[in-house]
Amino acid sequence: MYVQNASTPERKLVTVPGLHAMKAQGRRIVVLTAYDASFAWQLETAGIDIALVGDSLGMVVQGHRSTLPVTLDQMVYHTTAVARGLSATMLVADLPFMADRDTTHVLEAGARLVGEAGAAMVKIEGAAPHILEGIAALVARAIPVCAHLGLTPQSVHKFGGFRIQGREQAAADHILAEALAIQAVGADLLVLEGVPTTLGERVTAALNIPVIGIGAGPHCDGQVLVIHDVLGITPGKRPKFSKDFLAGRDSVGAAIAAYAEDVRSGAFPAPEHCFN
Ligand code: KIV
Repeated sequence: MYVQNASTPERKLVTVPGLHAMKAQGRRIVVLTAYDASFAWQLETAGIDIALVGDSLGMVVQGHRSTLPVTLDQMVYHTTAVARGLSATMLVADLPFMADRDTTHVLEAGARLVGEAGAAMVKIEGAAPHILEGIAALVARAIPVCAHLGLTPQSVHKFGGFRIQGREQAAADHILAEALAIQAVGADLLVLEGVPTTLGERVTAALNIPVIGIGAGPHCDGQVLVIHDVLGITPGKRPKFSKDFLAGRDSVGAAIAAYAEDVRSGAFPAPEHCFN
C-alpha cells in the first residue's frame, strides 16, 4: 500500500540555497533519475538529494532510441507521479525536445512542470542565445533552472551519436564559456555530461553554482545517474560512466544507498567510469 508523501525521519527539505551551501562546504550532491512514485519513494528513503525526472524516460521507460519523442504532457505526467513519492528530496524535471523552441514555450513548460506537476526546478539543455533568453525568463519568474551542457542528448543527431564532447581544446573552451554564460543569466545548477575529467574539473572550479557530473569525472560537486543503470536493468548496453550498484546487493534500497554513499565519499566515479 502506497502512502502519499509519507514523511521520512529527520530529513531537511533540499532547497536551492541548500545546494549552493553544499558546494561551498564541499559536500557532494547526490542525484538520481525517477519516473514514478514508487522509485521516488526509494530515493526519498535513501536520502537522495535530488530526484530528476529526465527525458531519458523516453529510452528507459518508453523504449525509444533517443529522448527526442518525449512530449511535455508525458513529462508532466511522470513529474506529477514522482512528486507524490517525495517529501524532502528536491524534484527537478526536464524540458523535453523543442519545449525550448522560444521563450513563450519555455515559460509554458516551466509553468506546467512547476505549477501543475510540482517540480522545484526545471532542466534545459544547451546555451544557444534562445536558451539563455529562456533561462533568464524562467529565473525572472522565480523558477530555478538547472542547465545541461556537454553531451546533451537532445543534440544526438548533431553530434552523430552519443559521443563524448569537449575533447579538443577549442571545444573544451567553448563548453567552459557556455557554462559561464548559463551562470551569468541565473541558472542555479549545471548538469555536465560526457566530457573529459580535466574539463569537468575546470568547469567545476570556474563556477559558483554546483556542477553535477555524469561521465564528467570525480571533481564535480555531485553526480547523477539514470536509475536503470544503477540497478543493472538498462535496456541494451549500460554506459561506461555508470555502475550497477545492485550487483552483490539484495535490494533496490541497498543499491540506491550504496550509490549515495559512494558519491558522497568520492568512491564513485572511479577511473573506469571517466573519460580522457
Ligand atoms: O534525461 C536524463 O535523465 C538526464 C540525466 C541523465 C542527466 O538528463
